[in-house]
Amino acid sequence: MFGVCYYPEHWPESQWDQDAKMMAELGLTYVRIGEFAWSRIEPNPGEYTFDWLDTAIATLNRAGLKVVMCTPTATPPKWLIDQWPDVLPVDPETGQTRSFGSRRHYDFSSAVYLRESMRITEVLAKRYGNQDGVVGWQTDNELCCHDTALSGSEVARQGFQYWCRQRYTDIEQLNTDWGNVFWSMEYRDFSEIDLPILAVTETNPAHRLAYRRFSSDQVVNYHNPMVEVIRHYAPGKFITHNFIPMNETTVDNFALAAPLDFASYDNYPLGRTDLLLTGAPTEELRRYMRTGHPDFATYYHDQTRGLLNRGFWVMEQQPGPVNWANNNPRPAPGMIRFWTLEAFAHGADCVCYFRWRQAPFAQEQMHAGLLRPDNSKTEAWPEAEQAMAEVALLDIENQPLQAASVAIVTGVEGQWVSDIEKQGEAYDFNNVQLSYYSALRELGVNIDFIAVDGDFSPYKLIIAPSLPIISHSFIEKCKASTAQFIFGPRAGAKTPEFSYPTNLPPGLLQKLIPIRVLSVETLRADCHEGLSWNNHQYQSGSWCEQLDAKDTEVVARYDNAEPAIVRKDRFTYIGTLTNKEFLRDFFQQQCLDAQIMTYHFGEDIRVSQRGNLLFAFNYSDQPQSLPLDPSAKLLLGNKTIEPHGVTVWQGA
Ligand code: GAL
Repeated sequence: MFGVCYYPEHWPESQWDQDAKMMAELGLTYVRIGEFAWSRIEPNPGEYTFDWLDTAIATLNRAGLKVVMCTPTATPPKWLIDQWPDVLPVDPETGQTRSFGSRRHYDFSSAVYLRESMRITEVLAKRYGNQDGVVGWQTDNELCCHDTALSGSEVARQGFQYWCRQRYTDIEQLNTDWGNVFWSMEYRDFSEIDLPILAVTETNPAHRLAYRRFSSDQVVNYHNPMVEVIRHYAPGKFITHNFIPMNETTVDNFALAAPLDFASYDNYPLGRTDLLLTGAPTEELRRYMRTGHPDFATYYHDQTRGLLNRGFWVMEQQPGPVNWANNNPRPAPGMIRFWTLEAFAHGADCVCYFRWRQAPFAQEQMHAGLLRPDNSKTEAWPEAEQAMAEVALLDIENQPLQAASVAIVTGVEGQWVSDIEKQGEAYDFNNVQLSYYSALRELGVNIDFIAVDGDFSPYKLIIAPSLPIISHSFIEKCKASTAQFIFGPRAGAKTPEFSYPTNLPPGLLQKLIPIRVLSVETLRADCHEGLSWNNHQYQSGSWCEQLDAKDTEVVARYDNAEPAIVRKDRFTYIGTLTNKEFLRDFFQQQCLDAQIMTYHFGEDIRVSQRGNLLFAFNYSDQPQSLPLDPSAKLLLGNKTIEPHGVTVWQGA
């Protein structure tokens, strides 16, 4: 299924009918509306103007289109802010109030804003909840985008004190758990606790971890009642949210997704590639600047699917140049179709393009749409048409979700720990996780992202690239599973209250692998040293743990012959950050041992499987020959895959 993001309030009413007809002609099913329209829905406090919205919905429905309605809570109007200025959040880096004039200008700890949000949600849900043509709902828009999860406001401080009281009950417990005797940080009462911001130097990491946990809970506490209100008035309709990845928001997306019917993701591969490859060598960026890095889009598709372990939507798909990265190239010809097929191959049920028509005014006037402001069609139009025809031809939507043999265990705590305690400039949770993912994807294996409390049973190989906080129940689950496990450096290295395990890292993980981390050294990225594995030399560096590993098998060694990677039965521990070549070769061997099929067709080819369809995606601008079995039944494309092309064949 396909859809589009539309803003009827941006266009004269006389244009809506024609727009709707063209959407239907293109073959779209869904139109998402309303997420920023509060000032038009309620221009003055308590005064609602629904006529225009009723007409817009009716116009779309008349053309056969189904409406996905959003709550407009990402943009509280000016009157609301003037009436309750405390709704505005405070930037924790500077202590300055973030002002009105863009979006997401609200504080998750504001009781007033929670009340106002539930009010406008209820008003909308009451009016449209039972309307047949409104088939589903999106809550808010990209919660916590623009670094808005944390606020340094007075309401946040009060909320945090309350949260601490609930969690630790007694102040002595908090002092002990956080180690507040250090630097005379002890409190006599919960009311003395400030947010860990704007201090002279580093604040206590345990304090900062608590602030992250609290802030994440505040987002969930803000969002989940909204879902309840919609459920109440719109029974039987789906509810989703377009998530920003967890590593960016630093919010527990598993908790946020729990009450939803499915999760959605906004896919902007070029903008992301530009931002994520800031500072990367020129050739690395140039190569992918018009295609996106081969693993960035699917990295988030797979994570979004993993939130609820079911099909997801791409709620916004980049259609051309965007306006918000450092540089905003045009996609290479064919990439809109390519990204669309790729999303379906990774479990999407629907792809919606953002946006219908480029707006000639305001912040996003340089952002492409399916149409230009003069109504001419952009390159995205025929490519979307082609993708729709091919999705129908392959009947992808009726294929079951991809079945993965490999899982990556993920969670927001890894990101929190890596943000809070750098220790070495090279260690970043997301880079570590992405490097593991990327190495596995180059081997063409399907990957599921699962939470620590997820179901381990479908997997032969379970990898935890960065899992610094481990619980007893996780250990028990690992023991009960029959999978092979691989842990990256820093696993089990922190207690739940951010201290160093007194039995030494990897803490509780010692129950699975009897090792002790004697020291950790971090090196500048360009000062790496060697790692020898399987009679080959690779790189080790940036992060090197000194392991006491007497009772384990040594799998790989540092230059000084000390153990770097060790194994005990089904459990492998990697004590260092290393390079892509190593990860790829090492995982290839692990897959072979675990009898997991791999498709390593070259650096720029990615193979994905959904149901019994196998897809190859060529990220390079050169044709590539796919080493397919002569009997492979081709369903789309050729064995020589075109530049930026897609080949699909039938699997066993
Ligand atoms: C998304 C956002 C949209 C629009 C788009 C531009 O992150 O949800 O509202 O701003 O980016 O690329």
